[in-house]
Amino acid sequence: THHHLVLNNSVKIARLGLGTFRSKGEEVKSAVLHALRSGYSQIDTASVYRNEVEIGQALKESGVARENIFLTSKVSPYEQGYDNAIEAVGQILERLGTEYLDLCLIHWPGAAKLELRSEKNKELRHETWRALERLYLEKKCRAIGVSNFTQQHLECLLSVCAVRPSVNQVEMHPYLIQKPLREYCQRNEILVQAYSPLGVGNLLADPVVCDIASLRKRTPAQILLRWGVQHNVVVLPKSVKKERIQENAAIFDFVLSDEEMDRLDGLDQSHHFCWSPNEDVDQCRPLNIHTGITLM
Ligand code: A2P
Repeated sequence: THHHLVLNNSVKIARLGLGTFRSKGEEVKSAVLHALRSGYSQIDTASVYRNEVEIGQALKESGVARENIFLTSKVSPYEQGYDNAIEAVGQILERLGTEYLDLCLIHWPGAAKLELRSEKNKELRHETWRALERLYLEKKCRAIGVSNFTQQHLECLLSVCAVRPSVNQVEMHPYLIQKPLREYCQRNEILVQAYSPLGVGNLLADPVVCDIASLRKRTPAQILLRWGVQHNVVVLPKSVKKERIQENAAIFDFVLSDEEMDRLDGLDQSHHFCWSPNEDVDQCRPLNIHTGITLM
């Protein structure tokens, strides 16, 4: 249906999923349960989010059949390398209480405590990929991909991989429209997933977004998410609030005009609210001043 896209290995993926970064404990449990009741099937987590156990419990409690859920998790910068990544995914599956992931990503091109551009880091990253390839062939992951990769990281990976990545998950919203990266990914049949599609909430008060929202009788969040959908990316808004989870899913019954899309594209300022992939992961920690929350 029009609510789905297809990955380069023919696996179907919904255009919308629930983001869970910074969602924890009982809050994330009720968020996942509510999302599943509101028509979401895709849940995005990561080992660094430290909420996989609660998400696993919610999935069980929901009673939804496993095959009707699309579950993504990510190998952290602290788990890079062949053996480490195999071990890490084993633990992810255990925490989530499932036999397989629908999508497993390398969370970050850099490994902890290594210079991002170093040869050693590149080797480690490619070993991590080899581990994901093995898990893919063993059907522990229905699809594999990467996150926060630049075009250069992808070019490098494509030149050595046996299984091509299906996904690159990056920060994307009208202040960071990621045009060249999206075009590169499209040429290489890599689907883009947009995390922080609301700019961590920062775009909800943007005058252009609010103007289009009031003309359309939609909420700013719905305008931002619809913009992503029409750029053919999967949007992964994060919320723990029931009304917002529902609101964020009501984006498939209207279409933004070319002019509205252009206005939103025009807001681009290449601004990252989360972190920039050109920085070493260790250097990224202070960037959490945006949220006041320590990531790892
Ligand atoms: P909350 O979880 O309390 O609902 P992003 O997905 O871009 O990272 O944005 C997430 C932020 O936006 C969170 O602070 C979340 O807060 C908030 N948020 C999510 N959906 C909505 C919405 N529909 N309206 C207002 N704020 C929202």
